[in-house]
Amino acid sequence: MKKIIIGNWKLNLDHLQGIQLLQKINYSLDKDIEEKIDIVLSPSHTSLRSLQTVISTDNLKIKISSQDVSTYSDGAFTGEVSAMQLKKLNIDYSIIGHSERRLHFNETDNDVNIKLTRLLENEIFPILCFGESLEQRSEGSYLEFIKNQINEGLKGVRKDKVNKLVLAYEPIWAIGTGEVASIENIVEVLDFVKDLVSDKPYFSDETVKLIYGGSVSPDNSSEILNTSIVDGALVGGASLDADKFVDIIKSVNL
Ligand code: 13P
Repeated sequence: MKKIIIGNWKLNLDHLQGIQLLQKINYSLDKDIEEKIDIVLSPSHTSLRSLQTVISTDNLKIKISSQDVSTYSDGAFTGEVSAMQLKKLNIDYSIIGHSERRLHFNETDNDVNIKLTRLLENEIFPILCFGESLEQRSEGSYLEFIKNQINEGLKGVRKDKVNKLVLAYEPIWAIGTGEVASIENIVEVLDFVKDLVSDKPYFSDETVKLIYGGSVSPDNSSEILNTSIVDGALVGGASLDADKFVDIIKSVNL
């Protein structure tokens, strides 16, 4: 399967810095790389339009993702951005359910499920994040927790609506800590999730990508990305540095 590498810029960079980083990344990549790997950048909402303009003007193959989407379609919801508005900007993907949103903004599995539905209605590919805390891992309850996150997040999803779905395993204890999950940890969880979704109506190897995120860097990306069950990576800190991000992309064996 074609691997996917997503850079989550989080709350960093203004739109001018974003354009610079996009151009630097693009310049360092081989011309035909995007035919072999899906490359996605996820900036703040304020940069979506500028980056998308550069991509369409220069005919780049890099795709753009938002970092979130509203549960609402329209109306009196000050500060929200809807899936329909993102679609009008030709946004391809949206991250939902990131642990930082669950933790700091009280986002629930039900919110994630509504967001997923809004994205699918607007033909935007969801990048659904899930993963356990350190406490759940040490208690041994992490697989049960993940099962619940996935089942609740994907409730009611229909095959005819799903063109592409990315499920991103991001253990909370590995995010921004420099402590990357071991290959055994990653394989165990992705195998578990693959089994979990494989009897659901929307699942096929073509439509569902299983990826890992949490302290991915050029030092560990080759081992992670060249493990067969791992379809890609969701990269935080290292995606803010063009050289590191490109090195991660280049570590995929083609
Ligand atoms: P880091 O790569 O900085 O650990 O962040 C991971 C992440 O949260 C990506 O969404």
